[in-house]
Amino acid sequence: MAGSEASTPAKASADRLLAAARAAREHAVADFSGFKVGAAVETADGTMVSGCNIENATYGLTICAERVAIFKALSDGHRRFTRIAVVADTESPTPPCGACRQIIWEFCGDISVVLANLTAVSATLSMKDLLPLPFDKTLLGP
Ligand code: THU
Repeated sequence: MAGSEASTPAKASADRLLAAARAAREHAVADFSGFKVGAAVETADGTMVSGCNIENATYGLTICAERVAIFKALSDGHRRFTRIAVVADTESPTPPCGACRQIIWEFCGDISVVLANLTAVSATLSMKDLLPLPFDKTLLGP
């Protein structure tokens, strides 16, 4: 299988990113929805930072797994990102919500978004496709 996708470093790091997202999902604080989500963002230096969704009694202060992962990474000093994985226990892909799309776009740019469940990848999309015509700092002027 030499040269096949199964043996590439890119495939190996994608597998590690998915494993990190799946492990984070186990820590989800989803007492109200019961819908557990894990995410992991890969930084330019190959570091993987994961997060899970965190719900609370007011519901509205819930924070999604994607934003937890990105805010953790930013707080650790990371500023350049290459891709993000999102994992939920669903047959069809669970894409980032609108708020997360905005945050992923602003802090990560046009990265790949890998959507997966507990066993397989269901879709890989670009942020440009997930958030066409974004609002960002380029529109704020000098
Ligand atoms: N959720 C995420 O963490 N990420 C997504 O991409 C979709 C939704 C969370 C928010 C909430 O805790 C639960 O899933 C149900 O909406």
